[in-house]
Amino acid sequence: MAKDTSAPFRWRTVVEVAGIAAIIYVLLGAPGLPSAWRTGRSAEKDTPAVRTKIESLVSPAKELNCPTHKYETHVFSSSPLILYVDGFLSDSEAEHLIDISADKWQISTVSTDGIERTDESVRKSEKALVQRDLTVQCIEQRALSFQGWPQDTFIERLWTQRYNESGHFAPHFDWSTATKTARRVSTFMVYVSANCTGGGTQFLRIERPQAESWCQFVECNVQSEGVTFKPRKGAAVFWENFDAEGRGYRETMHAGLPVESGTKIGLNIWSWYQKGYRVDDGEP
Ligand SMILES: *[C@@H]1O[C@H](CO)[C@@H](O)[C@H](O)[C@H]1NC(C)=O
Ligand SMILES: *[C@@H]1O[C@H](CO)[C@@H](O)[C@H](O)[C@H]1NC(C)=O
Repeated sequence: MAKDTSAPFRWRTVVEVAGIAAIIYVLLGAPGLPSAWRTGRSAEKDTPAVRTKIESLVSPAKELNCPTHKYETHVFSSSPLILYVDGFLSDSEAEHLIDISADKWQISTVSTDGIERTDESVRKSEKALVQRDLTVQCIEQRALSFQGWPQDTFIERLWTQRYNESGHFAPHFDWSTATKTARRVSTFMVYVSANCTGGGTQFLRIERPQAESWCQFVECNVQSEGVTFKPRKGAAVFWENFDAEGRGYRETMHAGLPVESGTKIGLNIWSWYQKGYRVDDGEP
């Protein structure tokens, strides 16, 4: 495997990646655990991880009056569908997210067997749960609208993520185990602040495109495995985690490369398919 000698980060073997994926699966709330998920309302029988997941699903209020916002979408790949969305967030939305995260940062953890712990070899960052004010709900709405308002699909409560120098996230999938009725269908990796060097989002199993015009969005000067999207304030990388048959795309394995200097703030927007589930609109 290729080595990225510019960063203090060693590429892992497939076995290690599998181990990390397992940890992250648990960390992400163990989606797809056997349970009575069909209605999403049978809380008594659900495990704590499942309850936490369902409680985290939100839908923007129906009568939201969001300001007009334009962004530019570039198709990077069609299978899996990967899109680069320039200007997904406006500058003022990005500033707002930074402001409302300011007093909420907590160390990101991983959890194994229900025990939360920090493991900086897997994930080194801080995270903040953002309040669902109008700006945040308009971002949720934009994310759903972008995907054509898919049925039975909700947004997981939004968290910002702060990566200081040496902060990173080891290679992982966002999909992990899923069921026919419940899964994390898509991911937006949004760059809220990118006053940093390093910190790109690397897809290890996808080739860098040959066209020069992609060099404004992807790393063209650094030799590394796969393709690395540059963190650019306001931009987002969007991808679908599953193919039409409901199989997780292996190609979506990705890493948050170490920040070499400065700070990166990201926003994950995960869309979750939960068949038959209903949430109270706009409830904070
Ligand atoms: C990250 O950097 C900010 C300042 O930019 C600082 O306030 C914060 O404590 C740092 N976090 C960690 C975990 O060192
Ligand atoms: C960006 O980072 C540089 C160096 O780390 C710092 O001096 C500057 O204040 C930062 N700018 C913003 C907008 O945070």
